[in-house]
Amino acid sequence: MKRLPLFLDLSEAPCLVIGGGEVAARKIASLVDAGARVTIVAPLLGDAAAELAERHDLDVELREFEEDDVRGRLFVIAATGDSEVNRRACAACRERRVLINTVDDATLSTAIFPSIVDRAPVTVAVSTGGASPTLARRIREQIETLLPAATGRLADFLGRRRERVRASMPDIDARRRLWEQALDGNVAALIGKGDEAAADAELARLVAGDAPEGFVSLVGAGPGDPDLLTLKALRALQRADVIYHDNLVSPAVLELGRRDARRVYVGKRRAFSGTRQSDINALMLADAKQGLRVVRLKGGDPFIFGRGGEEIETLRRHGIEFEVIPGITAALGCAAYAGIPLTHRDWAQSVRFVTGHLKDDIVNLDWPELAKPDQTLVVYMGLVGLRQLSAQLIGHGMAPDTPSATISRGTLEDQAVVAAPISGLAQAVEEADLPGPTTTIIGRVVDLRAQLGRSR
Ligand SMILES: C[S@@+](CC[C@H](N)C(=O)[O-])C[C@H]1O[C@@H](n2cnc3c(N)ncnc32)[C@H](O)[C@@H]1O
Repeated sequence: MKRLPLFLDLSEAPCLVIGGGEVAARKIASLVDAGARVTIVAPLLGDAAAELAERHDLDVELREFEEDDVRGRLFVIAATGDSEVNRRACAACRERRVLINTVDDATLSTAIFPSIVDRAPVTVAVSTGGASPTLARRIREQIETLLPAATGRLADFLGRRRERVRASMPDIDARRRLWEQALDGNVAALIGKGDEAAADAELARLVAGDAPEGFVSLVGAGPGDPDLLTLKALRALQRADVIYHDNLVSPAVLELGRRDARRVYVGKRRAFSGTRQSDINALMLADAKQGLRVVRLKGGDPFIFGRGGEEIETLRRHGIEFEVIPGITAALGCAAYAGIPLTHRDWAQSVRFVTGHLKDDIVNLDWPELAKPDQTLVVYMGLVGLRQLSAQLIGHGMAPDTPSATISRGTLEDQAVVAAPISGLAQAVEEADLPGPTTTIIGRVVDLRAQLGRSR
């Protein structure tokens, strides 16, 4: 290891910043944040540095750097942009055994700033030893996506309970197992949900030696493109012991789960007659009661035409802890990938999401409302009721030339769009023989597609 990573306590420590420009100002701000006593030496101060100096009542010496300035400091930052001054500062610090960071020059630094992921009190520092700050930043970005925003809150929660747990569990191995159970199971998930009281109750159960409780995440898988998954959904998938999914969930999304997670198909496909909602609820319940982490993956968003509410109701009735992670619904995914803005200042001041599924061969909707102009309709439905839909809309006053488009397999690689006036849409879609799932968008905004230059 070329450099030893350390986390310095700089509170009240005498530190020196040489230079008064923008870069120096950023370093001054970091030192002030860490509680250091900062002196600035520079012939001139830029606005940002001057503002910081005034706000925090810092010592400022408006003159050239002198070697003796580093005496008695714990840490010096050379941010001058003048390589000769930086070199002299570094030599002075080495001679007096003072730590120095020279901005953008690892060879003139005994200490370098890492890239930081800040989830206080958790801090992750990444360094490439000065070889490539850009690579360090990339790595930091990857870590940012892995660590939930609640990581700091979780650390605080665990820290505040450490003493109490130590007192009631003297055995160190038992304690380690307990903390691992807490992190793998509900305690972390409940803190993520912001429910500290429930997390405390679960921790108390674990301390008492009870088996951990299960947890269900109702996760929106988005319309298909796996890159549209939220970070939270991805984390839930990667923690899951078992994943329930149906046909609207794309295989690419499913693959993002842990390799060894049990995957259970509960949809309706080909010869498979489909699992009834009550059976799905019972299966999830049984797994959760066994202490498993269950993910119920639903296409799009679980609360939009997804029966998510019913699944939650069952869990709530049985006292199972759960969370709902929203997803990008088909309307939003299809519209964005087809180049159709759903609202427009001049043409559509509102947008309605309706489901056009047939009941007893009839699509039953509030036609007079839906036929009104200056709005966009997004119809979640297969192709079967499309003729009826357009006939009803036109019959209730919609202009027959109202632009419309049916989007098949939106956001997936093979997405296809058929656009036509509403009077001819059903015919055009039949001729194109589109595969499902499909969503239909109706309204003048559909014409904007051409301007946005979409080809699919
Ligand atoms: C039972 S609803 C579920 C909607 C889902 N919860 C959501 O928020 O997107 C099923 C309908 O969603 C629409 N849908 C879902 N994924 C789609 C996709 N990738 N492309 C087009 N339409 C889609 C279709 O209209 C399909 O019939």
